[in-house]
Amino acid sequence: MTETSAFTRSPHFGRDATAATYRDIHLPRVFTPWARVLLEIVPPRAGERVLDVATGPGTVAREAAKLVGPDGSIKAVDISAAMLAVGRDWPPEPGAAPIDYIEAPATEMPLNNEAFDVAYCQQGLQHMADPYAALQEIKRLLKPGGRLGVALWQQSPFGLFRQAVAELGLPESGPQPSDFGRDPAALAQAIHSAGFQGVQVQSRQLVSILEGGIQQGLQVAIATSAAARMQELRPEQQEAVRAVITRALEPLVQADGVHLTSIANIASAQKPS
Ligand SMILES: C[S@@+](CC[C@H](N)C(=O)[O-])C[C@H]1O[C@@H](n2cnc3c(N)ncnc32)[C@H](O)[C@@H]1O
Repeated sequence: MTETSAFTRSPHFGRDATAATYRDIHLPRVFTPWARVLLEIVPPRAGERVLDVATGPGTVAREAAKLVGPDGSIKAVDISAAMLAVGRDWPPEPGAAPIDYIEAPATEMPLNNEAFDVAYCQQGLQHMADPYAALQEIKRLLKPGGRLGVALWQQSPFGLFRQAVAELGLPESGPQPSDFGRDPAALAQAIHSAGFQGVQVQSRQLVSILEGGIQQGLQVAIATSAAARMQELRPEQQEAVRAVITRALEPLVQADGVHLTSIANIASAQKPS
């Protein structure tokens, strides 16, 4: 396994249990719907070479593979072996491009210069120790004129868990993702400073429904950085975390489940020709 701590603010993605919850709950309800929005805004074309950075379990990679088709190809990079294992186990879709999963930090991807037509990074940069260096590395890998699509939370669907757990004041709460990309103007500036042109940022909103109600909400919360160190807490502290998250979820319960609202800033840009 890659030594992740120097590169990532979110080592909990390296756990098999987090990856499994992500595959079963987060992916279909939150991240795949958001990947489709990203790919609508920065569409890949048939036959293109695509890079998905911080791919997790191959979320954007798999949706892009269907769009570029069998003549295209996808490289999907992540620092977490556990997340990549979920992607590698996924049955391939007929007619989709092949996906090659690579374990590496986004700042040191073992790939050739100017190899890609289009690159994506969905909800990855805020988890990285150096998102500015990752943008530079992505630019190195894009062909001249290559396109970039980046998504970051303006309002995370998981922010309420972080806030609730922070209010408990537990010293063990651990490293947390940064605010990188939360402000649309600052995000545009960061991408521009990395040497991209034509930068545009739009904000979109989605509601994810956890049909399993508060119990499912607790599973989601425990797999986020907010409660990543649950196992290290004393039993009464674990109970306090569950109680505070339950209270945060209660106002979000509707007839069909818990409604989690998220707003993403989606940036598009090009590497100069
Ligand atoms: C919230 S997940 C997003 C995954 C995927 N893009 C999606 O939309 O489902 C964040 C991912 O960033 C990865 N990550 C964190 N730091 C990283 C780094 N420095 N280099 C590469 N991947 C990193 C984590 O392992 C995790 O899979």
